Amino acid sequence: MKRIAVLGAGVMGHGIAQLYAQEGYDVRLYDVAEQGLEKAKELIENSMALFVREGLITQETREQALRNLSYTTSLAEAVTDVGMVIEVVPEVIELKWDIFRQIEEIVEKEVIIASNTSAFPLSTLRQHAQHPERFVITHFFNPAQLVPLVEIIQDAKTASTVVEATKQYIESIKKSPIVLQKEVPGFVANRLQAAVAREVYWLLENGVASPEDIDTAMKDGLGFRWAFIGPLKTNDFGGLDTLKRVFDHLFPLLSNADSTPSFLGKLVEEGKLGVKTGEGFYSYDDQSVQQQIQERDENFIRLLKQRNQ
Ligand SMILES: NC(=O)c1ccc[n+]([C@@H]2O[C@H](COP(=O)([O-])OP(=O)(O)OC[C@H]3O[C@@H](n4cnc5c(N)ncnc54)[C@H](O)[C@@H]3O)[C@@H](O)[C@H]2O)c1
Repeated sequence: MKRIAVLGAGVMGHGIAQLYAQEGYDVRLYDVAEQGLEKAKELIENSMALFVREGLITQETREQALRNLSYTTSLAEAVTDVGMVIEVVPEVIELKWDIFRQIEEIVEKEVIIASNTSAFPLSTLRQHAQHPERFVITHFFNPAQLVPLVEIIQDAKTASTVVEATKQYIESIKKSPIVLQKEVPGFVANRLQAAVAREVYWLLENGVASPEDIDTAMKDGLGFRWAFIGPLKTNDFGGLDTLKRVFDHLFPLLSNADSTPSFLGKLVEEGKLGVKTGEGFYSYDDQSVQQQIQERDENFIRLLKQRNQ
């Protein structure tokens, strides 16, 4: 069925709703807060305008996509007659359980219920479910409108037909799905991200390089390759014998910290939260959050176009 419900119109929810609307789905975007819906509408309109300017979609697609979207504060209205419900409410387990309980009272048992959780295991999410076999995680990355990857996480109770149908949903919105064979904390991408962050923090804490130089090493070295060739294929190109020698030497010397460094806690305590407060590892005094986001998105669009060629 080409009709879906997105529950929660925040940072992730509005982007996911936009994607489905652009690909011809009838999308119902639900939020408890009227204000949240208004903000989401504005963000979606602006994002689609940028997509048109950058040639990612046509003006006709934008107009149709905007017509495909409806906004509601009624959960029943949102989930009636949909093929899939995507839960994108805050990462609070009681909140998610409550939403699932309400949805299951309304929708048919065939309707897929997908969560965008960052960290909760599927077994915890569907703990009180009447029909656990239709629960799945579809983990999008911020900004969802642009980052291609979506991780699909199943567990022993998820029906294989649900996993297959979910994969088709994700492919139909031109995303790049991976299906995890088993559940692990952090899934795949956040484990990789955390492993890199641990080493980055070690390098900073030990005064090896400046934040600018560490970011350059990633952008112009590893990240440059990884946008097209993942780490395993990069190993193949490098030669596994050479890589084994290098890693045999380095692995025992890498950070094995089991907590985040104190300087990170200090930054957070001081309200230096990054772009949103004007300071983090860098200072953003002279540029607004909106400008920063726009610049980031324009760069991501350039990369997306390059990958799609
Ligand atoms: N922000 C990210 O980078 C990111 C990335 C991947 C996954 N996630 C996950 O996605 C989910 C949503 O995160 P977010 O960053 O979009 O959060 P957010 O706070 O930006 O948005 C959450 C939205 O849900 C609404 N909401 C609150 N209670 C609700 C309820 N009972 N019913 C319906 N709507 C309700 C809020 O009004 C808000 O608009 C979380 O599980 C988060 O862990 C976030």
